[in-house]
Amino acid sequence: MKNKVYIETYGCQMNLADSEIVGSILSKEGYSLEKDINHADYILINTCAIRDNAEQRIRKRLRELRALQRNRQWVKIGILGCMAERIKNQLMEEEDNVSFIVGPDAYRRLPEMLSHLHDGEKMAETLLSDSETYADIEPVRYDTNGITAYISIMRGCQNYCAYCVVPYTRGRERSRDPQTIVAEANTLFEKGYREVTLLGQNVNSYRWQCNGTTVGFPQLMAMVAEINPLLRVRFATSHPKDLSDELLQTMAEHKNICHCIHLPVQSGSERMLKLMNRRYTPEWYLNRIEAIRHYLPDCSITTDVIAGFCGETEEDHKATLEMFRKVRYDYAYMFKFSMRPDTYAAKHLQDDIPDEVKTRRLEEIIALQGEIALENNTKEIGKVYEVLVEGVSHRSDKQLFGRNSQNKVIVFDRQDFQPGQYVNIKVTRCTAATLIGEAVTQ
Ligand code: SAH
Ligand code: SF4
Ligand code: F3S
Repeated sequence: MKNKVYIETYGCQMNLADSEIVGSILSKEGYSLEKDINHADYILINTCAIRDNAEQRIRKRLRELRALQRNRQWVKIGILGCMAERIKNQLMEEEDNVSFIVGPDAYRRLPEMLSHLHDGEKMAETLLSDSETYADIEPVRYDTNGITAYISIMRGCQNYCAYCVVPYTRGRERSRDPQTIVAEANTLFEKGYREVTLLGQNVNSYRWQCNGTTVGFPQLMAMVAEINPLLRVRFATSHPKDLSDELLQTMAEHKNICHCIHLPVQSGSERMLKLMNRRYTPEWYLNRIEAIRHYLPDCSITTDVIAGFCGETEEDHKATLEMFRKVRYDYAYMFKFSMRPDTYAAKHLQDDIPDEVKTRRLEEIIALQGEIALENNTKEIGKVYEVLVEGVSHRSDKQLFGRNSQNKVIVFDRQDFQPGQYVNIKVTRCTAATLIGEAVTQ
């Protein structure tokens, strides 16, 4: 029987969480999840469409897979996720080794589709839904360290930032029943997991209404944090326009809610932010940073930024560098603007910044952020942190690694510590990306 499925995931954490849902849907119907692609009968590629290079990478991967298909001619390749949703059937016309296409809200249809994929037949299912949250599906954690896990708490986005394709690939925003979220976190804890990250494109707008009561994001965080003090809770991503004091207070009140906030700034220029439809000003953003520092003085702050959006001047770019100097981020995901079809920018703005200028601006941001991250990490030397051990260090099997509440990776000598344990570590050295430390009894 041809029933071995291999899932390959690209893109954001939400795609990783979705692949676990897909794994669960298929294994319930008798498919087995295969770890070696060379043994698979079906190869599912969960794709990202956020920038053009994300899509190019998938096209390249499809070309590579032709060799594998020559030896195993019955193997069927399916495209899932955001690129599937964005290009739909056209993708099957352009890539003749793709047999099926499934958008992010149609994964329940997968078992039926696979069973109908007779030789040569092609299928696509890309309807978006206003209500699908996969709330009742317990994800299969098939590529896991057994300690940390993602929980999807909402889907979709309707912020329509001018550059962004997500509202078109993921559909309208919808929140998942909080009871199912708490139950999932509870099960994870009982299985030995010690950290959950609650996921959504804009978690601050999480809202569940039922029988006259409303659960907002701060309440949901509290509910998950109260499962057990040994279960750490993180979240991603919060939109600056909705980052409330109430959330910061909830974080301050629960020791196990981690002190790390990812707050994508995108640009430091008021004019650019307006054009991007971000709906906050640099002043508002800095006010939110002050609020974080007020309620959670030891909180780490990370961000996303885009260099070279439509019409960006040198002055706008300098405002972004200035923002980085003011906030002093602990980590940043830094991107060159990539024009995406269908977005507001594609319809109304010009992609007028030459590529070499985008590259130079991006490099300036990267260089500055590198200096700041190293300076921030240098200040950590001498401090003691509670670290959740995740596993053996990639560099040496004599060392373990874990993270502190601030989400910084710390490497230390193995001794007798086990993954899932909390250990107090004193930081002794650092690089821009990693802290190095030693266990202390405290
Ligand atoms: N929901 C999150 C971000 C999701 S996408 C938020 O609103 O912050 C992750 C990041 O990709 C974005 O924060 C942005 O920095 C970047 N990004 C999105 N569209 C892009 C584009 N067209 N070109 C370059 N970077 C982009
Ligand atoms: Fe995209 Fe903006 Fe939604 Fe984030 S908030 S996913 S950047 S549209
Ligand atoms: Fe990419 Fe879709 Fe995530 S476009 S960033 S995989 S929501």
